[in-house]
Amino acid sequence: MSSAEKPLAGQRALVTGANSGIGAGIARALAAAGAKVLINYISKPEVAESMVEEIRSTGGEAMAYRADVSQEDQVKAMFGAMFDAWGSIDILVNNAGLQRDAAFADMTLDQWNLVMNVNLTGQFLCTREAAREFLRRGVVPELSCAAGKVLCISSVHDIIPWAGHVNYATSKGGVLMFMKSVAQELAHQKIRVNGISPGAIKTPINRAAWETPEAEAELIELIPYERVGNVEDIAKAAVWLASDASDYVTGTTLYVDGGMTLYPGFREGG
Ligand code: BGC
Repeated sequence: MSSAEKPLAGQRALVTGANSGIGAGIARALAAAGAKVLINYISKPEVAESMVEEIRSTGGEAMAYRADVSQEDQVKAMFGAMFDAWGSIDILVNNAGLQRDAAFADMTLDQWNLVMNVNLTGQFLCTREAAREFLRRGVVPELSCAAGKVLCISSVHDIIPWAGHVNYATSKGGVLMFMKSVAQELAHQKIRVNGISPGAIKTPINRAAWETPEAEAELIELIPYERVGNVEDIAKAAVWLASDASDYVTGTTLYVDGGMTLYPGFREGG
């Protein structure tokens, strides 16, 4: 890649939940765009380590760090380790998230709390640490026009209600307003905060929805563009939102969903 194709050269990125699914795709794409990448994970250390090796073997720089994003002490320790290794942070990707699905009347408080803690509180804890460092350090013009960039990975379910997944949809609705409010508060300090809301992307979180041809055909009924997405679809959007190519964009959500949010039932109905 030429330097023009490495829009994130020299920048330091932290991606949460980076050893699986969308997070892994984003981590690889940021590294390919020239960023050093901290691969945060919670389980499967061998996958995180093999990603580090893979990135190093292509001339990039990466480190793996285990931390539960819903635990304040672990989040602080993770940012401390990153600053010790690389001095600072330029890009935070809040990606870690999970589902614990249940019919509403059967949903336990543990299912509710776990999803809220990881999907929403985790974004708060990580964004706060990143913001403190962006504010301390300010703009470094050789690296980026902005003092820092935050990407909040949400879901189409931040606006599409989802029966059987009330905890998950509520957490993502929270992420949408969290992202906008932080963006509004920090824009004048040259910190950009944006969201990506993926539709149905082939990852382990929704395997049952695409793993058989019958399930995939049913899923495609909900997608006007008539294909299930892949992690690269999201990763390309993430590189753009993290780079100076999107310098005038803040407080926005990019729906990368093949049109899932376009009320596909109304193509014929209504
Ligand atoms: C969920 C997936 C689902 C997709 C579209 C995502 O946020 O995690 O399980 O397939 O939304 O409904």
